[in-house]
Order: sequence, then structure tokens, then C-alpha cells
Amino acid sequence: MHARIKELALKYFQEMVGTRKYLHQHPELSYQEFETTKYIKSRLDDLGIPYESPLETGCVGIIEGAKKSDRVIALRADIDALPIQEEGDFKKEFYSKVEGVAHCCGHDAHTSNLLGVATILMELRDEIEGRVLLVFQPGEERLPGGGKLLCETGYLQSQNVSAVYGLHTSPSHAPGTVATRVGPLMASPDEIEIEIIGKGGHAARAHEAIDPIVLASQFVSGVQSIISRNVDPTESAVITIGKIEGGTTYNIIPESVKMLGTVRTFSKSTKKLIEQKLEALLKGITEAAGGSYTFKFKQGYPAVINSEQEALNVLEQTNALFGEDAVIDLERPSMAGEDFAFYQEHFPGAFFFVGSGSEESDSTYVWHHPKYNVDDRFFLTAAPLMASLVLNTK
Ligand code: NI
Repeated sequence: MHARIKELALKYFQEMVGTRKYLHQHPELSYQEFETTKYIKSRLDDLGIPYESPLETGCVGIIEGAKKSDRVIALRADIDALPIQEEGDFKKEFYSKVEGVAHCCGHDAHTSNLLGVATILMELRDEIEGRVLLVFQPGEERLPGGGKLLCETGYLQSQNVSAVYGLHTSPSHAPGTVATRVGPLMASPDEIEIEIIGKGGHAARAHEAIDPIVLASQFVSGVQSIISRNVDPTESAVITIGKIEGGTTYNIIPESVKMLGTVRTFSKSTKKLIEQKLEALLKGITEAAGGSYTFKFKQGYPAVINSEQEALNVLEQTNALFGEDAVIDLERPSMAGEDFAFYQEHFPGAFFFVGSGSEESDSTYVWHHPKYNVDDRFFLTAAPLMASLVLNTK
């Protein structure tokens, strides 16, 4: 079966490459993927695959296997693009036709890949046990996350999904490789918004003012010890203040300082602890000086935590298809975030990275870089692996 799947992936390779170029030229922003959805539906129509539309954009294709079973495998692809003006010579022949919008996170490749997987599975339908759901998900790039919205509709729950799989292109891994791990894979990214309010005044009469720049400096220094002195050392976490803004010139003490930052964690308890410690620190520093503050902790996606059986399925099927050199069992999780996490709150599932970075195709730029590109060989790994997870796992 593995050889047959790889043969079919080769047969449809050029088609997947072409689909990706088409999608790349016609990107749409999160929750506005109307034309993309139309295109996906027309392709499913061509394949004779029925679909449902639990959300306004995106859709879920349904393949009924010939073998009766309660098993329902969901395969997810995100379909949205980013508000980025793209760059780079390599992609010139299929540049985005939309000013300021581009597929610079590989979701064009994810969508094209899932259409390729659908084509392969339709040829092998006699071998499929139970049902396959092809989840074309909108809005991965913007909160609240299309994965969250889809889970809230209860559609997948009503389908009794047994396992869910999702993937991402990976510019830091070579084509032909697959990287994942059992357990925590990607962090939960939350956003913080802070304002420290003091009392403005003349720089020479600082004793009459409450200097928010001094308070903000104390706060930023204090934040560093939350990770080193409050968070359990066996838990990974990051707090970064990414923006600090206050003041106008040499000799004026401003009224307030604003800060933006991000918190990355893997467990709800650590997240809660950091939220509480940040606010306690802020309260202590500002109260002592007679100032005040505002604090917003905006919950992002949960952490991507792979269930054991499904993550092992990914590693084993990669090995069976491509040999052990293709398998990268990651030692550490990534601190990036993904809304695939929402599915994993309801169903067992695994997320994995498929190598898409090479010098030849100028595709080693990080996700969201204007020159971001995907090596075409991504499809020769991603499509057979997803098909194999349907056909060769229990
Ligand atoms: Ni992405």
C-alpha cells in the first residue's frame, strides 16, 4: 500500500504544484476566503466529493470509505493568506495578484496538498475504512482562530471524529523530512497590553512628578525574574515585551508609558501563574510610586499537544514511506503558536512539520517573511503521508 500511495502522489504531483501556484496568485485574508472556498468546492465537485459548510468560509469534504467502520479521520488544511506585500525573485512567475496580500505562511501549499490527498484517496476508496473529513479551515492567522470557530459549531463533534491530523510547511527542514513529537509541540501565544500611568512634569523637577519611564524600566527588569524565579524550571515559558512607547523629548516626564508583549506557555497553570505575577508586579511597582496601571491579558490559541498514538502514527508512517532518515523526532517543542490546538481539545490528534526549505528553491525564509516560499517537493512527502495516515493506521 505504501508504494501505491507514493505512485499516486507522483502521478498528481504536477497538479498539486499547479494548484498551489493558482492559490498563491489569488490569496485572501482570514475569514474573507470566499473565492478560495468556491475554488475548493469546485475541485471537490470534480472529484465527486460532497461537502458541508459549517462556517461562512472554508468547508468540510466527506469521503465515505468502501469498508464499513465507525472510524472517522479528519485531515485539516488552513486556507488563509497574510496582509503582506510579497517579495523575492523566485516566485515572480506566480506572484500574488492582490496588492498587499500574499500566501507567506504556506497555507496555499496546505490547501493544494489536501486537494491532492483527496484525489489520491478517491482512487483508493475501496481500501478506506469508515469516513474521511477534509477540513478546509478559514482564519488560522487571526484571533479568535477558524479552528476555534469550527469547533464551536459542534460540527466535528457530531461527526464523532476519531482522530485529527494537520501539518505545516517547515522552512527549517529539508524537503523529504517530517518533524514532530509526542506531547507538547507548539506553545500557547497570549498577548499583553500594559499602560503605566504616572504624573507628567518637568525633567528638572522630577520629585514633583511620578515618572512612568522609571516605573516601566523596573517592570521590564522585574518581568525577567518571573521566568527564572516563579515558573517551574521543568516547564518552558517565555515573556517578551516587544514594544515600549512613552515620552516626547529630552526634558519632559511623560504622563504614561505603553507596552505590548507576548507570553508563550504550554500549560494552563503556568499561563495563569504568569498572568497573576505580571499583574502583581505591575500593581506593586505603580502603587509604591503613587501611579496606576491598566493590564490586559488577551488569551491566544491553546498549546498544540500531540496525543501519543497519533504522533507515533505520524512518525511510523513517515518511516514506512520514506525510511528512517526522513523522520525527525523533535527533542523540543517550538514556541510558535497554531490554532490546530483547538481540535486537540476535543479529539486525539497530531500536528507535524513537513520539510519545505531548500537553497535551490530559495525557500528557507521564516514563516511570514515577504520572500517566504515552499519547495515543490513538499508535496511528495506531505500528500503520501496524509493518505497513509488514513489508510495504514488503526
Ligand atoms: Ni501558518
